[in-house]
Amino acid sequence: MKLGFLASHGGSNMQAILDGCNDGSIQATPAILICNNRNAQAVERARQAVMSTCILNGKTHPLPVDLDQAILDALQRAGVDLIVLAGFMKKIGPKTMAAFRNRIVNIHPSLLPKYGGQGMYGLRVHKAVLASGESETGATVHLIATAYDDGPVLQQATVPVHPDDTPETLQVRVLAQEHQLYPDTLAKIARGEIELP
Ligand code: GRF
Repeated sequence: MKLGFLASHGGSNMQAILDGCNDGSIQATPAILICNNRNAQAVERARQAVMSTCILNGKTHPLPVDLDQAILDALQRAGVDLIVLAGFMKKIGPKTMAAFRNRIVNIHPSLLPKYGGQGMYGLRVHKAVLASGESETGATVHLIATAYDDGPVLQQATVPVHPDDTPETLQVRVLAQEHQLYPDTLAKIARGEIELP
């Protein structure tokens, strides 16, 4: 199974998955990183891992239809079987969505369907969890259907909310859980223990 990563920023989830591929716990081959931001730490991580990288964005392709096609071409040239969204801040275009139907996974830092949807990203998610007085939160790996954070849940993991948590401390604890959950989910997909439709 060849993985194609789409990331915009830090890429710490991508790193956890690269580590799992390296140590054999995920039976998959990292094939390419597509990134919209050439200064992202994810690009440096891909370089260290000797994985090819493509910078594709509104500057390289001003028309959304062309950008969508360029992303699809890069994924197909690299022989990608599964798209792994790892902090990708852009919407996937319709051509790529259609070509990779049920083959796009994402991670979100909450127990979806709670605290998902448009505008729910980064610290905003954890602020909303604290504002609602939740006693637990977590992370969700899911398939991408058509909308933001929408699609069948593959796996979830819970994280306790502490009385003295700030959005920042909660984010750190949830991210640590994401680094377990995402590689574990991909390992199960690769072994056929989680079947994609
Ligand atoms: C994570 O919190 C993930 O749930 C969300 O974006 C963040 C990416 O972090 N989709 P990183 O780039 O993997 O460090």
